[in-house]
Amino acid sequence: MPAIVLLGAQWGDEGKGKATDAMGSRVDYVVKYNGGNNAGHTIVVDGEKYALHLLPAGILTPSCTPVIGNGVVIDPSVLFSEIDALQSRGVDTSRLLVSADAHLIASYHQVIDKVTERFLGKMRLGTTGRGIGPAYADKISRVGVRVQDVFDEKILRQKVEVALEVKNNLLVKVYNRRAITVDEVVEEFLSYCDRIRPMVADTGLLLSRALDEGRTVLLEGGQATMLDVDHGTYPFVTSSNPTTGGACTGSGIPPNRIDRVIAVVKAYTTRVGEGPFPTELLDADGDRLRADGAEFGTTTGRPRRCGWYDAVIARYAARINGVTDFVLTKLDVLTGRERVPVCVGYEVDGIRQDEMPMTQTEFHHARPVYEFCDGWSEDISSARTLGDLPKAAEQYVHALEDLSGARISAVGVGPGRDATVVVRDLLGGS
Ligand code: GDP
Ligand code: IMO
Ligand code: MG
Repeated sequence: MPAIVLLGAQWGDEGKGKATDAMGSRVDYVVKYNGGNNAGHTIVVDGEKYALHLLPAGILTPSCTPVIGNGVVIDPSVLFSEIDALQSRGVDTSRLLVSADAHLIASYHQVIDKVTERFLGKMRLGTTGRGIGPAYADKISRVGVRVQDVFDEKILRQKVEVALEVKNNLLVKVYNRRAITVDEVVEEFLSYCDRIRPMVADTGLLLSRALDEGRTVLLEGGQATMLDVDHGTYPFVTSSNPTTGGACTGSGIPPNRIDRVIAVVKAYTTRVGEGPFPTELLDADGDRLRADGAEFGTTTGRPRRCGWYDAVIARYAARINGVTDFVLTKLDVLTGRERVPVCVGYEVDGIRQDEMPMTQTEFHHARPVYEFCDGWSEDISSARTLGDLPKAAEQYVHALEDLSGARISAVGVGPGRDATVVVRDLLGGS
């Protein structure tokens, strides 16, 4: 099997970390291709809970090589503290590889992220405050600093000088903050040099060779389709491309080597931060989903906004990403309801629509059209095949499959590595 993409179908936190980890032992490389430490993946292995942010989920699987691709933005202090935390729990992190082309997050990116949000006030995006947007903005503006730059002090200094010129004007004159000196930034970056050097590689070349040798490469997306800067609910998005295209540009693997696109989708919907969310529940049903699903952010601890499953979004994700398989997660959270609403389409200004509306205004006006599935009350956490599920739960899965534009190949019934109903082998032939 060549390259496989695994990404989020909704607004993030679908359970991508668990899905990646579950495949880990049968995969040779797990490559993170976008985002940075705005991601938060909680993975439970043998009852032990791990919270990963920047590191690919493959770090927990001894047989696989975790890779941070060129499309990621790296905060080196977070990288090292995450490595230290895993090492102190006995996890071997020595296989980790980092692309020489990945961009670095500096402390000034975090400062700008936070002051911009404050400045925006009511119009804020609700970012994670990790400097992600400003680091990608510098990349696109061609004033970013890459991993490879820390190995050449002369170039590093030049780049930092250019990067700080406009920023200091902005910080001092607009945001009333102190100026940041070139020396402090250069010093900070140089302090990472020795520790990061052994991890740095031409990861695009390495992955291409691995594929030539018949190895399996899993490309793991951070965030999700609806947070994509091009295809998501702009401007309430992150600043990278979590969708399939981003897997290619963020890793150096061409599209014709990608054989399978797995989208992880929750059996209901959540969102963190600001922005439109048609099926959001602002009532007791929403509170119950949050409580039953433990819907609090892995990165910022913020309560996640909760709502019913939105099949319009699932169909959109299937189309934009070329999804071959869905992994449906957290079905167990819906246990104990008499009936479960599913959004099958929208009503936009009195007109029924089955596709994502074209404009932001229409999406803000979208009202969900619900159909109702029967609920179930049995504990489903030990189910491992569709036949183990109560009839109503199985019917819910089939209903979502019919509505969502791709087959459902696995169903999560609990946070643990093995708590999954396997419909078909995600790594097997189609
Ligand atoms: P990610 O960012 O997509 O990796 O997802 P998060 O880790 O941020 O959030 C998903 C949460 O749901 C984590 O706490 C997981 O341990 C948990 N989880 C994943 N799959 C399941 C499932 O099928 N059932 C339940 N109950 N929890 C799950
Ligand atoms: P994982 O990988 C959920 C959201 C933030 C904010 C917006 C922009 O765990 O699914 P940013 O800091 O990226 O500039 O914030 O994107 N966001 C996420 N929401 N899961 C994530 O990652 C997210 N990463 C960013 O809440 O609304
Ligand atoms: Mg998460």
